Amino acid sequence: MKFSVASKSVSADSLFVFVPEKKWNAKLYGTFLSSSLAKQIAERMSAKDCEGKLGEMVQLFPGSNDAKKTFLIGTGKGDQLVDQRKAASLALRKAKKLKSKKVAFLLPDIFDLKRIVSGAMLGNYEFKIGDTKDQFSPSQVTLLSRTKFSQQELDAEVALGEATNFTRDLINLPPNMMTPKILAGKAKTLTKINKSLKVKVLGEKELLKLKMGNFYAVGQGSAEESQMVVLEYNGGKKSDKPIAFVGKGVTFDAGGYNLKPTKYIETMKCDMGGAATVLGLFHWIAKAKPKQNVIGVIGAVENLVSSNAFKPGDILTGMNGQTVEITNTDAEGRLVLSDCLYYAATKLKPRLMMDAATLTGAVVVALGEKITGIMGNDAKAITQVKKAAEQADEPVWELPITDFFREKIKGTQSDLINWTAGVGAGSSMAGTFLENFVEKTPWVHFDIAGTAFHEKGGDELSPIGATGTLLRTWRNVVESV
Ligand code: BES
Ligand code: ZN
Ligand code: ZN
Repeated sequence: MKFSVASKSVSADSLFVFVPEKKWNAKLYGTFLSSSLAKQIAERMSAKDCEGKLGEMVQLFPGSNDAKKTFLIGTGKGDQLVDQRKAASLALRKAKKLKSKKVAFLLPDIFDLKRIVSGAMLGNYEFKIGDTKDQFSPSQVTLLSRTKFSQQELDAEVALGEATNFTRDLINLPPNMMTPKILAGKAKTLTKINKSLKVKVLGEKELLKLKMGNFYAVGQGSAEESQMVVLEYNGGKKSDKPIAFVGKGVTFDAGGYNLKPTKYIETMKCDMGGAATVLGLFHWIAKAKPKQNVIGVIGAVENLVSSNAFKPGDILTGMNGQTVEITNTDAEGRLVLSDCLYYAATKLKPRLMMDAATLTGAVVVALGEKITGIMGNDAKAITQVKKAAEQADEPVWELPITDFFREKIKGTQSDLINWTAGVGAGSSMAGTFLENFVEKTPWVHFDIAGTAFHEKGGDELSPIGATGTLLRTWRNVVESV
């Protein structure tokens, strides 16, 4: 799918005229709108065939312009930028259904072309394993707009859309097709996009050498070898300390001996969503080449049951030397992350560190499926993240880490326990556990258990399955800190 911005009307298989609710006015489109088309739109709007409500779509009579088919697409209260992205996605989905090769979007001057390209890229996403002969993508999307938009801005937005759809693919792949080794292999393929990207893969022997007892234990019950992947991109000055992104990559979370029951286990291929987000970020980095030094660390592992699996009651020692008693084998993500975070903090010495993980069911109870829970140890970093997330239209909400939780996560026979019965506040307890492994590094944790994968429904931007959440926020972080 190629995008371009045109200053004159073009022929198209389908043309979508973006119409804001209540504020429709022919003057919004300059000379792009012929008087006959303007007349027809005005008539349809005043007849209330289309009032411009978000997602409302109506086809116009042919003949008033060059396009084979013309639609009005409602964009809600036009100034709601977030709805512009959704409208673009819905229009693109319609074009796919119609198998339109050449698509044109006629956009009011006030519209944000970044969000329009982003929406179209997201709307183009489909995932299927099997017969895909019905799948279709338009080859050309032309934005008819008087708004200034450079080729560079356009390319950057396309790159981010591709990265997001790459993340979605990784998460949507079934667990038999997305093992720790396959995930590590996907990281390596990124070096094909940009040769200056460095990707190092460590196996279990190396994990043991590094004394990563927490991470190693989670994979003990699986025949698949655990993998830690370290990615490095140097776009900044040599002397600049890097920003680090760490991801939970549990390619299937059966829960271990604290086995997950039916209705909870089926979707657990999504448990490598954090790792997929890190790889998506590097997919974008490989193309967009930001002027920053960036490090990625992912812990890829399966959490299964077998005679080798770790057990409730085991006491582990992580890379930082602290001991952890296993009170619940299903609280495995924090174990994997603990060693990855400590590795990143001490070996790579970042100036700022973030992690993403489908970490707790509790975050879904607290914030639902559209808001990502964040926690951290540094007020400035939290403020930067909130701003980046707001500009990305990806809601986040901060949850607390307090001394009360710090007390409750302490062990009696060990330094820490990985889960405490009866405290509640599961997401905060998990965040508090992680805090022990970041040293003094300014750090923000993103719990994406509710936002990374939607088993039901889907929405304007994402079909059922992986959403690719957080990539826009992290892109803004990389560009702003
Ligand atoms: N992978 C799960 C969390 C999860 C839940 C991800 C729902 C996506 C959707 C995590 O490893 C887990 O099992 N957490 C437990 C923790 C509990 C045992 C302390 C949970 O949230 O129930
Ligand atoms: Zn679990
Ligand atoms: Zn998990």
